Amino acid sequence: MTEQHVPSREEIETVIRGVVEPTSGRSLLDIGQIEACQIAAGRIRLTLAVAPALAAHLEKSATAADQALDRAFPEWRASVLLTAHRPTAAPRPEPKAGGGHRPLGGVGNKDASEPLLPQVRTVIAVSSGKGGVGKSTTAVNLAAGLALEGLSVGLMDADVHGPSLPRMLGISGRPEVRDGKLIPVEAWGLKAMSIGMLVDETQAMVWRGPMVMGAIGQLLGDVAWGELDVLVIDMPPGTGDAQLTLAQKAVLSGAIIVSTPQDIALLDARRGVAMFEKTRVPVLGLVENMSYFCCPNCNHRTELFGHGGAREEARRLDVPFLGEIPLLADIRLSADEGAPIVVRAPESEAAKAYRSLAAGVAGVVRKLPHRQ
Ligand SMILES: Nc1ncnc2c1ncn2[C@@H]1O[C@H](COP(=O)(O)OP(=O)(O)OP(=O)(O)O)[C@@H](O)[C@H]1O
Ligand SMILES: [Mg+2]
Repeated sequence: MTEQHVPSREEIETVIRGVVEPTSGRSLLDIGQIEACQIAAGRIRLTLAVAPALAAHLEKSATAADQALDRAFPEWRASVLLTAHRPTAAPRPEPKAGGGHRPLGGVGNKDASEPLLPQVRTVIAVSSGKGGVGKSTTAVNLAAGLALEGLSVGLMDADVHGPSLPRMLGISGRPEVRDGKLIPVEAWGLKAMSIGMLVDETQAMVWRGPMVMGAIGQLLGDVAWGELDVLVIDMPPGTGDAQLTLAQKAVLSGAIIVSTPQDIALLDARRGVAMFEKTRVPVLGLVENMSYFCCPNCNHRTELFGHGGAREEARRLDVPFLGEIPLLADIRLSADEGAPIVVRAPESEAAKAYRSLAAGVAGVVRKLPHRQ
């Protein structure tokens, strides 16, 4: 087998230099400035800083740059992200460290001086290094559980490529637009919003870097979230564009990592923890999902995937362990039927596990500093 060629930054620059913005005839590299260039794990992520006035106009060129990189390095998946520097002349307080750029695409907060989500006290990402471990199910039941704890809660689906909240919350139809803002849909005591409520799922599946970032920007900035104690964000699997956008926008108060107990999932959980630490988002703790199986007939407890791995991993990583959720057919059924089990069957073993998780997280949320 031949070794994979790792493109150098110079080679990447050469490709970008060859991308010409058709109106001005200038190279994309003359118009923008490379701000970051990550080449790792089969992906090239290039961040180009451009003048805000040119921003919207350059989206097509960013896509052309994506394609040019894909052609030049077919074994690598490229994404070119645009960021706009805020005009430096306008004197204004910086809302947060690292908030000096605004990814393009979403109409977002139209005046960059406005902090994002000013009425939202805390924002928590529910994440994992690996797909299918139960992030969305945990996010939905945690959010509903936090509402039962008396908090005002929003739930946002950042999984642009595979939104699951509309199905899990039993929401169909489009949200209302009022005064240019999307009104979140109220369900199960939560205010919810998902890209799945706005566009056809197959459409969003093919979106690349800038569009994903734009969509996340819209979900944050163009939704009338109102006053919330906590906005729970259901993250897509892995460490991709959505995570990067949220980190760049510096909106997260903390992250919860969901893992199953197997070693392999824990390895990915470790990656998830590392990513948030790198972007200086505090990891609030680890949750072990599908921790044990309780036979509905005889109540016998079986540890299908082993048990306690996440608790042990949390200790090793020096992050709190937030609790364990059993593997139960009712959890899946309830999710498929569009109702969080924590509300639908409050006396069930599953609901008790989620309530206990939510009570712990509510305690953490109450202590977190107000974002603004
Ligand atoms: N504790 C549980 N018991 C039984 N089924 C569960 C449990 N947690 C999640 N599931 C089921 O496992 C499947 C995957 O869960 P979910 O969609 O929440 O994972 P995810 O991590 O969000 O996946 P993705 O990475 O695709 O976003 C779903 O069918 C869900 O109903
Ligand atoms: Mg999911």
